Formats: sequence, C-alpha cells, structure tokens
Amino acid sequence: MTAMGKFVGRSWVDVASVTESELRYFLALSTTVKAAIKERRTAVYRLAGDRDLFAALLFSEPSTRTRNSFELAAQRLGLRTVGFAGTEATSVKKGESLLDTVDMFDSYGVDAVILRHPLDGAARAVAENLSGEERSVCCFNGGDGMNEHPTQGLLDVFTIGECCGRLHDLEIGIAVDPKYGRTTHSFPVLLGLFPDNRFHVFSHPDLRMPKAVIRHLADRGVEVREYFDSGEQLREKLPDLDFLYMTRLQRERFEDDAEYYRARDMYLFTPEMMELTRPHFGVGHPLPDNKEFPTISPALKRHPKFWPKRQAGNGVPTRLVEIALSLGLMGADFDGEVYHPAPVDLSFSQERPVDGEKPRPGPVDIRPIDNGTVIDHIEGNPYVIDKISRLLGLAARGTIFRMGVVAPLRRPGSRKGVVMIKDRLLDDEEMRLIATLAPGSTVNDIREGHVVRKRDLFLPGLVEGLPDMQCTNHRCITRHEHHEHVPARALRLGAGTDSRIVKCFYCNNLMESHEVL
Ligand code: CP
Repeated sequence: MTAMGKFVGRSWVDVASVTESELRYFLALSTTVKAAIKERRTAVYRLAGDRDLFAALLFSEPSTRTRNSFELAAQRLGLRTVGFAGTEATSVKKGESLLDTVDMFDSYGVDAVILRHPLDGAARAVAENLSGEERSVCCFNGGDGMNEHPTQGLLDVFTIGECCGRLHDLEIGIAVDPKYGRTTHSFPVLLGLFPDNRFHVFSHPDLRMPKAVIRHLADRGVEVREYFDSGEQLREKLPDLDFLYMTRLQRERFEDDAEYYRARDMYLFTPEMMELTRPHFGVGHPLPDNKEFPTISPALKRHPKFWPKRQAGNGVPTRLVEIALSLGLMGADFDGEVYHPAPVDLSFSQERPVDGEKPRPGPVDIRPIDNGTVIDHIEGNPYVIDKISRLLGLAARGTIFRMGVVAPLRRPGSRKGVVMIKDRLLDDEEMRLIATLAPGSTVNDIREGHVVRKRDLFLPGLVEGLPDMQCTNHRCITRHEHHEHVPARALRLGAGTDSRIVKCFYCNNLMESHEVL
C-alpha cells in the first residue's frame, strides 16, 4: 500500500464529520486488518517501515481499553509511543494547560496525538491547536468528558455489523445512561448514515439522551424513541431488538448521590431476559461495567449473544486503520466523499427600506426619542433587554436610554421589547452583539424624530469574539473557570435566518443564542 490519500492528516475528533463512503471504506479495511492480525500476516498491517513515526498517548483520565488498544494498534503498525496515563507525574499538576502540554509533544515532532480528557470539547480544541500551515498533527479523540468517543463509535458500528450481518434496517436499544455515557453520543450518529435504523433509548428521566444528539439524528432522518418509566419497558421491547447497547452508570459523573442511586436500580440485563431475544440478537457494552452493580449479569459472559469482549477486541484493528489512514499508510485508493463543512456566513443584518416613518412603540410609557437608536422587536424577555443594557454599557456610560416591554399596535396581545438610546448610533460590533442577544430584532437609526436607517438582525453563522462569551455547559473546555484559554465559539444551528439556537463549536452543547452572553 502506498502513501498519500484523501484521509491523510485527518483527525478523528467527532462522528459528524465521518461520511458514509468513508465509513464503508473504513469498515471494509478493518475487516481485512482484523483477519490479518489474527493470522499474523504482518505485511498487511506493519506499514510504518523506517518512517520513524511516533504516537503520543495523553490520557488524563483512567482508561484500560482505549489507551491499550490504541497503543497496541500503533505498535502493530510499527509506530513507537510516548505519553502518560494519568497526570500525577506530569506538569499538569503544576498548573500547565492542556494546549501547552500538547504543544510540547508537537515540538518533539510526534505524528499523532491520542487524547483522553475530562473536559467536553478538549479534543476539538487540541485538533485545532495541532493544525497549522507548515505541519499538522492528527488528533484522535479517546473520549472528551461526556461529549464524544468517536473511535469507540467506529468500533461499535464495526461490532454491530459483525453481530447483525448488516448495518441497515436495525432496531437498536440503548439502555442505562445515554446522558453521561459519551459512547452513546457517537455510534448512533454513525449508524444513522445507513437507511432505516431505529433507536429505542431506555433511561431514568434525569439521564435522557442530550438534545444535540437527538437533533443530529433527526437531521439524518433517524427515529429515536425514548422510554423513561421503568426497566419493564426494556423487557417488553426486547423481542424486537437486533442489538442492545448497555452502558455503565458513571458514578464519577454524578454531582447528586440521590440521582445516582435512583438510576442504579432500574436496569440489569439478566439470563432470563436473554431468553426473550431474537436468534441473531447481541448485547453489547463499551465497558468497563461496574463489578458491584453490573448492568449485564456476569452469568452471561460466555453466552454466544454476549458481545462486549469481542467489541473491546475490535478496538485494535479499527484504531490501527484510523491511525494508518491519517498517516497515509493506508487509504491511497479511497476515492469517496470526504466531509466539507458548510461555508459559514458571518453576516447578521439586512437593510430595510425606510419611509421616514416615526417610531411607533405602541401603548407604552416610554417616550420616543428624537435622535439616536431604537432597538425594536426584541422578543418579549425582560432578561434579554437587561443584558442589552448591560453589554452596551448604557448605564455605565451615562447614556440616556429607555427600555421596556410593550404591546405592539400591529399585533394585539403580543409583547415585544424596545430599547431607545438617545444621541448614540451603534457600531458594527455592537450590532453583532444585539444580533446574538436578540435575533429577529430591528435597529432603527433616528434623526430629528424620523427613521433614517432600518436593519433587521439575525444570528450570524458563527458567534465568537464577543465580550465575556461563555458556553452554558460547565464542563466545556472554553469555560473561564477551567483556565484552558480556549475562547468560546458557537455555530448557528440551521441555515435559516430565523434560527435562535447555537451549538458550541467544541462541546456540541445547544443553547438559545442569548445564553452565550
Ligand atoms: N470503552 C472505553 O472507553 O473503555 P476505557 O475507559 O477502559 O478506555
């Protein structure tokens, strides 16, 4: 196999960027490599030769499977490995940031960084930090907080294909913890690339699957049904399932003990439940399971429908293929589609013709102004109006302004917010701020009592660089309290100018746009 190909330099940070043709190619190659490893046909997979390649394994959280299967995969390819398992003996303990740590391995000339980190979005931040014009180092996300575990997702899909003999028209169950279990945020999105797959998600109501995952699946036309009542619903659905993906209840993710104990008692997959399943059914688990409170009965470990050990074993061939593709050791013949992010439109305002009208705020006790700015049609949320006042520094600058919620004459019964700022026009940065806080609002420039310019505001495709901008997810790497110095960025969800929802570029958290400020 020759070097170069469309995969060269590819980082594996999320699953949204994996295309169907990439996935099909990857799965076929993984099948070949798995058989070759079994038969020790090293010519198929020991491909690094004398290229002197290094992988850095930077694991800040405990791991058995991900770290060791990546290390085995790298070594089987002929790479050498460096790094750490736990931060105890590293300068992270002296307060070093993640990006500074990663920069060191970049400066040593490693070719791949394989990462596990407790903060959501850490892998995306590292991948960005490692991509440059002169040299790009591939980043492999081995799990970032409760966000994603894409390389586990790839091995899960490979395993489901082996178990079920197909990757379409499947009834897939997911049980126990789809909220904190990052693996359940990854493999469904990949399976959603194939037709007619349906997901049945069983969990305690406090542990429901994140909205961002459900929304992503809906965008791919994938049906997700959620069941919250009790473990009984899982038992009822079992005869219809092709594969059941159990997860561990992650005690370390719970801030509230009571929430943990309530959720713990809902699900245990027993031998008697196995009797209810289809002939080609499989139960899987990313592992580890908890030995004190297992989610799959240990009595099933030797059952032919018990897949977790084979699933974990698939980590070596699949991760070997990922590294090999990214380093140009495989994949020269791949000619399929690769992911191209949609271009980001940064515009946020549209001019509207003006007819010299006078501003008509309706039956309201804020008097119109003669000169300045009227921000109109702010969706009726006093909290947003207060934020506009604070972020424009209206009171602090001594600016004369009036604000309030009014009943528009043209839409009786509805409410809208209005802010009037005397003797001051807004600059572009201030307009971008208002577009983020109040998409759908209108900014009127007023001169001598008449509207001389009118602009409708909408969310820009990318929101970044605004003062004090924060992701609302407290585990996100961009949060100031983590001191990782990764500025917050958020992408508009949906192409339409009516969107008010943004997604954190790093951790995928969905927010109302005004919440980022
Ligand atoms: N499945 C998985 O991520 O296992 P580890 O935590 O042991 O790596």
